[in-house]
Amino acid sequence: MSEILVELHGHALWVTLNRPEVRNALSRSVNLRLQEIALEIENRDDVRVVVITGAGDKAFCAGADLKERRGIDAADARPFINAISGAINDLGALRKPTIAAMNGSAYGGGLELAMACDFRITVEGAEVGLTETRLGIMPGAGGTQRLPRLIGEARAKEMIMLGRRVTAARALEIGLVHQVVPRASLKAAVQAWIAELDLCAPLGVSAAKSAIERGHATSLDAGLDIERECYETTLFSEDRDEGLAAFAEGRPPKYQGR
Ligand code: COA
Repeated sequence: MSEILVELHGHALWVTLNRPEVRNALSRSVNLRLQEIALEIENRDDVRVVVITGAGDKAFCAGADLKERRGIDAADARPFINAISGAINDLGALRKPTIAAMNGSAYGGGLELAMACDFRITVEGAEVGLTETRLGIMPGAGGTQRLPRLIGEARAKEMIMLGRRVTAARALEIGLVHQVVPRASLKAAVQAWIAELDLCAPLGVSAAKSAIERGHATSLDAGLDIERECYETTLFSEDRDEGLAAFAEGRPPKYQGR
């Protein structure tokens, strides 16, 4: 059975981490495959949305494969660290919208993977945490940078420096996840987000995503320049004409991503 399942449903590509017996831990081979998948996604016109989820009902992803790591001495650990941060950064850099459908708890690299997605939907009873400091290391796949951007420095320090695991309800309260649903409703909840994204023009969505991300750490003036630059990519698009025509004709738009 493949370690990662990739299935196209409509124009949403569902990528499922498929090692439930080790709580979908990220081995080096899984990370290298995720990097390949990220590259493939960028080149596929039939994919408009990417959903990352995990198999089983125990965990979304328990982070780096700690058993694999244990057999590797410090000097040889770098390729493994590069593979996990490479996979997460490549998925984070996708121009298409990404949803983490968190079917269970997410720790360490598992939460870093979810944080690299645009939207996080999790299930009741799940927990999340960057537990690395309790394991003698620190987050190394974007956690120290993405978590404070999402929830602010004070709360990020609390979670990271104490290696605290928090409940799904708390994660929602602090803005770390977008929605918490009963386990049985996860797929339907994700489909509802996809349906809402379908109402939006793909080029507009990616240009807006890029403007938000690139403008985050800049001055307002520099951010406004970035926004204008991103806006330009939608200005002469067919989808812009379609959006205006559909509005004028009182019908739903049919966007092509062009
Ligand atoms: N890497 C490798 N194997 C892992 C793993 C990881 N990160 N997390 C869990 N596993 C393995 C366990 O060793 C166990 O294997 P075994 O059946 O051979 O003993 C199996 O997955 C099931 O784990 P278990 O702890 O029994 O399941 P659980 O459902 O009770 O708990 C977790 C799941 C995820 C809560 C728990 O395993 C855990 O806390 N893992 C560590 C998470 C973490 O801190 N990750 C950060 C990595 S930097």
